[in-house]
Amino acid sequence: MNVLIIGSGGREHAITWKVCQSPKADKVFVLPGNPGTGQIATNVDDVSVEDHGAVASFCKINHVDLVIIGPEAPLAAGLADSLSGAGIRCFGPSQAAARIEASKSFAKDFMARHHIPTAKYATFSSYNEAARFLESVDYPIVIKASGLAAGKGVILPDTLDEAKSALADILVKKVFGEAGAEVIIEERMTGQEVSLMAFTDGRSVKPMIPAQDHKRIFDGDKGANTGGMGAYAPAPIFTSEMMNEAMENVLQPAVRGMKSEGNPFVGILYAGLMLTPNGLRVLEFNCRFGDPETQVALPLLETDLLDVAEACVNGNLADIDARWKSGAAVCVVLASRGYPEKAENGKVVTFGELPENMVCFHAGTKMENGNIITAGGRVFGLTAWAEDIKTAVHNAYANIEKISFDGVQYRKDIAGKALNG
Ligand code: AMP
Ligand code: GLY
Repeated sequence: MNVLIIGSGGREHAITWKVCQSPKADKVFVLPGNPGTGQIATNVDDVSVEDHGAVASFCKINHVDLVIIGPEAPLAAGLADSLSGAGIRCFGPSQAAARIEASKSFAKDFMARHHIPTAKYATFSSYNEAARFLESVDYPIVIKASGLAAGKGVILPDTLDEAKSALADILVKKVFGEAGAEVIIEERMTGQEVSLMAFTDGRSVKPMIPAQDHKRIFDGDKGANTGGMGAYAPAPIFTSEMMNEAMENVLQPAVRGMKSEGNPFVGILYAGLMLTPNGLRVLEFNCRFGDPETQVALPLLETDLLDVAEACVNGNLADIDARWKSGAAVCVVLASRGYPEKAENGKVVTFGELPENMVCFHAGTKMENGNIITAGGRVFGLTAWAEDIKTAVHNAYANIEKISFDGVQYRKDIAGKALNG
């Protein structure tokens, strides 16, 4: 079958890499892709993802049997609806279902309707009302822009003044534009975070192995928040009892709830969970594969990704066994100097040969004059998998200098939590 993958980051390189291993895959296209996907598949550079009609025409002309959408923006813009409407099978939720990520106010109300455990919250569109509410609460809070804000819309203020100024930035100065037309003020929780992604066909749900992400730029979880500096899976802290709790209290009620409200969710449902002293709580839902979590989950997926994705689209996921390899995977992100504030670009990259069971996923690169150069904050996800996490971590760091460019920065403690307990 011919497959089209939408997106251009490390997540999409990992999806493409996995799809290319399927005996079912004939032609694999990536729109727009990156130099990494270009080495294993065909990048499409003359179609705009925003032009749904053009994407559908591309699929017809090239006999694409399945489209896999990576990022949230095209899902929130209704690309899956447009493609399904044109008779093209698409792995990824409808625009209405993608609200579970695209609108935090929808997601919070949805969780309340279906008794899915999450932090206490209130929603506001007026600065004055929100500021009055702030003065009335006596617990630490979190402020969130409701819409998609490229991972920047969550603020953890330490003082009332900081909280008010965050509210003013979002609701009055509109720093996130329309994404900040509403804000959520939420109770601040504590605990470790686990990323639990799951396949769903709208009825059944099959969880992936749980992963942990490393959001801060520096070792020891210090410094600014980033899109993610590394990940590992499985997360030993997430016990089988927690998995059962998450299935029973989060994933199944969410999938049932979306269906009962007339918006069945097909694709990847990603629950960002916090393991609080009072049990699991949902921090957020995402409507797509996580990044970098996908870079550690897919190397461990034993089952053919195309079989699982087709089963989701065809509504027969219950008949499929999503099997996982034993062992563990780790991904260390190589970022540019200056990331996340202002990343340098345009540095030439040199590559050494990696051993077996390692792959370097491209996230922010481009081709120039025959060289691969850096073109973004997060440039690569260097991924290793092995029979245990210790070996995977050792292999990743033992080979990290093989990928070299001026100003490279990376964390030295990825998966430290799994190693040290
Ligand atoms: P979100 O995009 O909603 O997952 O938020 C981004 C990050 O902010 C999360 O990964 C957490 O680290 C933090 N965060 C969000 N909501 C809360 C909360 N209610 N309590 C504590 N931390 C939170
Ligand atoms: N790693 C966090 C995310 O994909 O949203």
